[in-house]
Amino acid sequence: MFPLRRNRRLRTNEAIRSMVRETLISPNDFLVPLFVVEGKNVKDEIPSMPNYFRYSLDVLEKEVKDLWHLGLKSVLLFAKVPDSLKDNKGTEAINPDGLMQRAVKIVKNACPDMLVMTDVALDPYSVYGHDGIVENGIILNDASSEVLAKMALTHAQAGADFVAPSDMNDGRIIQMREVLENHGFINTGIMSYSAKYASAFYGPFRDALDSAPVDMINIPKDKKTYQMDYANRIEAIRETKMDIDEGADIVMVKPGLCYLDIVRDIKNAVDVPVAVYQVSGEYAMVKAAAEKGWLDHDAVILEQVTAIKRAGADIIASYFAKDIVKLIS
Ligand code: PBG
Repeated sequence: MFPLRRNRRLRTNEAIRSMVRETLISPNDFLVPLFVVEGKNVKDEIPSMPNYFRYSLDVLEKEVKDLWHLGLKSVLLFAKVPDSLKDNKGTEAINPDGLMQRAVKIVKNACPDMLVMTDVALDPYSVYGHDGIVENGIILNDASSEVLAKMALTHAQAGADFVAPSDMNDGRIIQMREVLENHGFINTGIMSYSAKYASAFYGPFRDALDSAPVDMINIPKDKKTYQMDYANRIEAIRETKMDIDEGADIVMVKPGLCYLDIVRDIKNAVDVPVAVYQVSGEYAMVKAAAEKGWLDHDAVILEQVTAIKRAGADIIASYFAKDIVKLIS
């Protein structure tokens, strides 16, 4: 009771504040998303993601070494697939010599101790921009999961440490786990995008990979039949627990900032590490406001990632990872 307790005493100066600080950010917290493209010497800035790039594999090699020297030890790879290789079956997604599979080898070769996670989803490979096979206006669940499991296997065979299914089809985790086990990949981890919402914050990412759902008759224009309704909270716990039962080693909430209530719910409900994805739209908003001089970029990103960790994130996938690590070193 006041004045026996004056809370400001513990805020008097930075020394005491840092001593009692509850949440600390370190390079170990981060997973760095990386976009890869075909070509040589390519470092393409993504228009809606200022200062974020797509790399050809030769440049990727330099980038991951750079990350490693900054103390960033995990990457999450996404491949931008040429239109000519897209279809409605994920043919290229399971090509053992596809861009993703080659990217894994390049990273492992350049930085053998770097943890390599791969995105497992069909949207960058789909002529329709969906995370599955589309038939009569429906994104097929079981047939899509089957391809995803094969895709995950090719990633494991290329050397991925973790596969990260981002599609939200039902049962794909157990399918994937079984295929990996049956082929001897008993130590390949699965980071499941378990509570992934149908969000308007993914726009810049779809620009980066040219993977947005197409505008065609009889093709759903959004992902609401498989990604979660953002009004729902209980469902996130159900989704997440099912993925753990099916063999997920790490679960994820996505997007980040608007979903911190979900992060805390999940953190309290499960006993596996919880990842949070601070997504492309969250990145773009900060960049745009900072460009206008309306927000202090560095202060805002530190506050945001600290809030994400405080909410319960054990792992943060963030396009700001490199910026943050430079700020705190
Ligand atoms: C698709 C996928 C998306 C993201 C990661 N994997 C977009 C989507 O679901 O449409 C979004 C990441 C971001 O916005 O940064 N499987």
